[in-house]
Amino acid sequence: MSAPRQLFVTTALPYANGKFHVGHIMEYIQADIWVRFQRMQGHHVNFVGADDTHGAPIMIAAEKAGQTPQAFVSEIAAGRKPYLDGFHISFDNWHSTDAPENHELARQIYRNLKANDLIETRTIEQFFDPAKNMFLPDRYIKGECPKCHAKDQYGDNCEVCGSVYAPTDLIKPYSALSGVTPELKHSEHFFFKLSDPRCVEFLEAWTQRVDTNGKLVLQAEVANKIKEWFSVRTNADGSTSEGLGDWDISRDAPYFGIEIPDAPGKYFYVWLDAPVGYLASLKNWFEKGGPKAQHGDIRSFEEYMAAADTEQYHFIGKDIVTFHTLFWPAMLKFSGRKTPDNVFVHGFLTVNNGEKMSKSRGTGLDPLKYLSLGMNPEWLRYYLAAKLSARNEDIDFNADDFMARVNSDLIGKYVNIASRAAGFLTKRFGGQLIHTFDPQGAVMLHDIRAAADGIAALYETREFGKATREIMLLADKVNAYVDQNKPWDLAKDTANNEALHQVCSVLINTFAALTRYLAPMLPALAQAVEQFTGSNMREWNLVHHDVQAIQPYQHLMQRVTPEQLESLFELADQSESSQAAINSVAIELPGGEAIAPTIGIDDFAKIDLRIAKIVNCEVVEGSTKLLRLTLDVGEGKTRNVFSGIASAYKPEELIGQLTVMVANLAPRKMKFGVSEGMVLAASHADEKAQPGIHILTPWPGAQPGMRIH
Ligand code: MSP
Ligand code: ZN
Repeated sequence: MSAPRQLFVTTALPYANGKFHVGHIMEYIQADIWVRFQRMQGHHVNFVGADDTHGAPIMIAAEKAGQTPQAFVSEIAAGRKPYLDGFHISFDNWHSTDAPENHELARQIYRNLKANDLIETRTIEQFFDPAKNMFLPDRYIKGECPKCHAKDQYGDNCEVCGSVYAPTDLIKPYSALSGVTPELKHSEHFFFKLSDPRCVEFLEAWTQRVDTNGKLVLQAEVANKIKEWFSVRTNADGSTSEGLGDWDISRDAPYFGIEIPDAPGKYFYVWLDAPVGYLASLKNWFEKGGPKAQHGDIRSFEEYMAAADTEQYHFIGKDIVTFHTLFWPAMLKFSGRKTPDNVFVHGFLTVNNGEKMSKSRGTGLDPLKYLSLGMNPEWLRYYLAAKLSARNEDIDFNADDFMARVNSDLIGKYVNIASRAAGFLTKRFGGQLIHTFDPQGAVMLHDIRAAADGIAALYETREFGKATREIMLLADKVNAYVDQNKPWDLAKDTANNEALHQVCSVLINTFAALTRYLAPMLPALAQAVEQFTGSNMREWNLVHHDVQAIQPYQHLMQRVTPEQLESLFELADQSESSQAAINSVAIELPGGEAIAPTIGIDDFAKIDLRIAKIVNCEVVEGSTKLLRLTLDVGEGKTRNVFSGIASAYKPEELIGQLTVMVANLAPRKMKFGVSEGMVLAASHADEKAQPGIHILTPWPGAQPGMRIH
């Protein structure tokens, strides 16, 4: 086998000024499907994200909320988990651009650029708000449009006539923050000299580079658009565009951001340190020992980033292409680092016919509401996958289409294959499959397995829509085979036993193959099929292996109901305040987290829960969290268990009480000794939002040692 690829994958870092909307979730699902596919190929992936915390809008939002920017962004960060877990997004690490790693890396990169003579200072004139005592970003200056005289237009363009201008062109400008008339003031700004011939030459080559087949590496439509930015040209209105200009990378205090080295009161513009956050999150993941634990990778972050075989990919939306294909590669290149291998650009998601989704407010499809209605996250993963391609084009979520694709395709064509075959196998053949098939079945199974490479190529190139169509065509073939061979008829006469056994065995094997093909999109479903077939669904190449036996069939997936979609799009009171956003994150999921994927009774039976008597309890010297419990589960000896409940209970409250413990958990060596089990306790997923830990107590009559069934 060839060596695994080393993949470093990111999604854009969301602004930490609001909760996720479904557009964000789409981006994460797209990247997650690709990442899971790569992992199934045995490649080593480090998949990271982070909150983009800096900049004027977040600083102003925090001020409005009466909070420090740090407290504001950390509340937002605390609300991310229910979304990411809820939609089965497998990030390895989630970090923050305000973390120390990012401060350090951003300053390092800046110093390298400066040493390379690519930083220059210039004095510019800018509007200043004397009431707020700060320079105003363009979007906080409003006034009358110089062309059409519409009132209350933003500082950079008019929403009425569409003309583009500088804030200084506005008639009667005013500050959107305080309402006062801004003053023009001088300020020294720092620029990244992108117009330097070295940068221009590098970027033209980087953005237009081709692979060994002569194909553009960037998406063609993206590369062609970028081309325009390099040329000096005359616009329709007679003005000229300059080609690549220098990039203003500084902002004046007050600003929530990273201070520029040796320049007190000057901060990096948020877009300078934001992409550095990709590296900061990865570095933090290395410092936590993640790559070592997952892939035995013992390299340092620096070694990994410098290695020739590390491939770096960024998934982003079409609105932030400039930052990722010009500024970011140039920052990396001229600070002496490796540049990204590719940037994958997707279009925008609209909902129910192009309803616009505002950056801050999202739209009618609230991801947490979706989950709280009990809607399966994998329906959305499958539906979006079916719509996604490698092109940068917008896609629309359409409720009717969603229901059709999930109910008719996913369940009607694919899930039903298993339910049609499983009953006969379990009832008639003790769940055992046979391995000599009828000729028609053997050919079909062979064809379905032979599609593995083609489908893999579609995943690799992010043609997920094509992949779903290909898989559904295979499912159609299987269903045609079912209709021709009619297992329900075969079952009527025991003389047909062998034929029935063959047909059902073929069906389960095709189902296993299709499951592996769908596993990057449907990871929880694939996990359930793993239980059902006793066969590993996380390795692509196992598609050629036969299933040996099945467990009794349990429902793998429900259908979407029209009622669910109706509730999902019922008009909700849309409050924009961040507090409301955070509250809803905390309450819309039971206990603050989504219900875990379905398990069978066999999984549950593996856990041996027993009534335990707390015969002794002590505080643990040197730990504020742990209590040491001595437990009696009727074994004629006691067990030593450490439990993180010191914040909730005093030892004397617990001594003599009965509780519930996991009695067959492998002993774990902890700093203070060996823990021989675990006691059960309830808590909210977000301990900050809803503190409190509550241990369980049985009803009277239960005795130490009794098992919980
Ligand atoms: N903070 C910047 C990115 C910094 S990356 C170093 C930002 N944040 S964002 O929250 O506005 O957007 C995050 C990602 O979501 C971007 O890739 C953006 O294109 C994507 N989307 C925002 N709205 C979207 C849709 N309606 N549909 C699909 N993706 C969308 O930009
Ligand atoms: Zn106008």
